[in-house]
Amino acid sequence: SAAGPLKSVTNRYVGSAVAVQHLNAEADYKSVLTREFDSVTPENEMKWGVVEAVRGQYDWSGADAIVAYAKKTGKSVRGHTLVWHSQLPDWVGGLEAAELRAVVKDHIRTEAGRYRGKIRAWDVVNEAFNEDGTRRQTVFQEKLGDRYIADAFRWAHAADPKAKLYINDYNIEGLNPKSDATFELVKSLKRQGVPIHGVGIQGHLSLMYGFPSGMKENIARFAALGLDVAITEADVRIPLPVTPEKLDAQASYFGQVWDACHAVRRCVEFTTWGFTDRHSWVPDVFPGEGAACLFDENLRPKPAYARLNP
Ligand code: G3I
Repeated sequence: SAAGPLKSVTNRYVGSAVAVQHLNAEADYKSVLTREFDSVTPENEMKWGVVEAVRGQYDWSGADAIVAYAKKTGKSVRGHTLVWHSQLPDWVGGLEAAELRAVVKDHIRTEAGRYRGKIRAWDVVNEAFNEDGTRRQTVFQEKLGDRYIADAFRWAHAADPKAKLYINDYNIEGLNPKSDATFELVKSLKRQGVPIHGVGIQGHLSLMYGFPSGMKENIARFAALGLDVAITEADVRIPLPVTPEKLDAQASYFGQVWDACHAVRRCVEFTTWGFTDRHSWVPDVFPGEGAACLFDENLRPKPAYARLNP
């Protein structure tokens, strides 16, 4: 049995995504989150489609509640996310270039400004690349061109000068064309003096695809550019049904991510995308897979938890 909570066994931030509806409704969910983690990332509550579904009508209720919970419990907050093609309000998609640029700037200034000084790190731009390393053809890329990323970082920095600003993506755990493209982009942004401070590696893994190769080397090359690295959304999907062998394999994957982060001084955060199999995005998106978290449905620690906190 563990000596103490997960947050006490490392000098990295140990975080989880949190959903406000569960925080409000489930005392056991809240108590495990509060006990085990020292950083929280709102799972959906800060996304543009949630905070401004209707143009000019803001709903900060979920985001405010999570920021208040974090303050009360002494946790750090990772803001997620300012510029993302998904969970975008419908009204944004139809704008022409000049107006879109003004609206993106206003969105960043409004949201990052509202929480100025309260967010340790922001995922400024999320999921900008395709698997082959080309830019994803989002509404931002198509209408604003390559420069939208540098602009977004400058606007975020102006709105909250002390927040660490990250680019964040999935399938950039190991060495591959997508992580290469991310590396080249952040290198060039740094060279141009764009205020970017870190690379977020989501860490959505599946036992069906094997462990990504070269994770430690990949983290190290970002750090060598003078950037921080954060594991921002770790989970390990299991092809159902769950068996003891698969739980051990899952533990090994989580452990390898944890170890890769701890091998590089500038890997400053290990955050999981939720902490209990009771609530997870996985079964909705990957039918036949699930049980991707450190705790089971009843909030009992799984072998993966024991691997990180023996
Ligand atoms: O809140 C509405 C509810 O009112 C409505 O009745 C219901 C009907 O579908 O939908 C609810 O919204 C859902 C929302 O989660 C809150 O539960 C959306 O449909 C659903 O699409 C949304 O999914 C989220 C997903 O991002 C959106 O792309 C997941 O919860 C969230 O875990 C997931 O998180 C992403 C990260 O932001 C970025 N990286 C990948 C990660 C996993 O996909």
